[in-house]
Amino acid sequence: MKMQHLLDIKSLSDSDIKEILDLAQEYADGKISAEKLRGKIIFNLFFENSTRTHVSFETAAYRLGANVVNWSVESSSMNKGESFIDTITTLNAMHPDAIVIRHSEYGAPISVSKNAKCPVINAGDANRSHPTQALLDALTLRQKFGKDISGLEIAICGDISHSRVASSSMRLFQRLGANVRIIAPQEFMPDEIPLNVQAFKSMKDGLINVNAIMMLRTQKERMEKGKIPNDNAYHEKWGLTKDLLALADANAVVLHPRPMNRGVEISSDVADDPKRSLILRQVENGVFVRMAVLDLLLA
Ligand code: NCD
Repeated sequence: MKMQHLLDIKSLSDSDIKEILDLAQEYADGKISAEKLRGKIIFNLFFENSTRTHVSFETAAYRLGANVVNWSVESSSMNKGESFIDTITTLNAMHPDAIVIRHSEYGAPISVSKNAKCPVINAGDANRSHPTQALLDALTLRQKFGKDISGLEIAICGDISHSRVASSSMRLFQRLGANVRIIAPQEFMPDEIPLNVQAFKSMKDGLINVNAIMMLRTQKERMEKGKIPNDNAYHEKWGLTKDLLALADANAVVLHPRPMNRGVEISSDVADDPKRSLILRQVENGVFVRMAVLDLLLA
């Protein structure tokens, strides 16, 4: 891989994307013995809550034999008034071999990459970018539909405008040749519909014949109080149910980055459908994708 950091999908070349996905699949197949990063020290800097992504990066590092230092904003000197950049330069002076960062501010990982002397991996910033999530989504679809996912019809549904997952996955699916639709209420539509993305304002219209459906959580923490939709009313109109799933292709699969709100954006019978739901497979693949990224950037 030519690049030094993983900051977003846009800065990956086609061959970087292929290299990451192919290597992640080799890890998934158990083909590689996993002690490649023995002795390396990885800093996990989480300025925002996370369950999956944090634990997944940590697990990936341990699986490769690396050591992890977990840092969280609550227990840091930022509470004593230290600036973000001073915190980063302090941590950088300890010479970590890589920094993984999640931050609620747009572009924070990019400014870390300018102030650190090691590879920086974006574990999600604001609603902008979540590249490893997009990569694990793509890996999950490749396992189901074959390595070439071009021509696949993929619908991303729900709170698109607040979702960094939607933003990165849309871009990556298109790079891999898939056709992307977004289905959302007007208030969750992005201000600008990305080029060649088809936008739908009803689940019934948008889901017809799709091969994959990605459901998204309504990101209440990013909404003004008065604009948060009522859960039941939202489910009625925008929740993925068995009936709506029946409009998609007969073999269509369901994705969700989690955390998932059952009975809001997705009904439990769909989320737990062993034939259709790939949601736990996504979690598994998260570790393999992050192993591949750490391996390619650090080894
Ligand atoms: C997402 C995130 O934090 O962007 N979760 C994840 O990383 N799997 C999605 C969300 O919070 O809804």
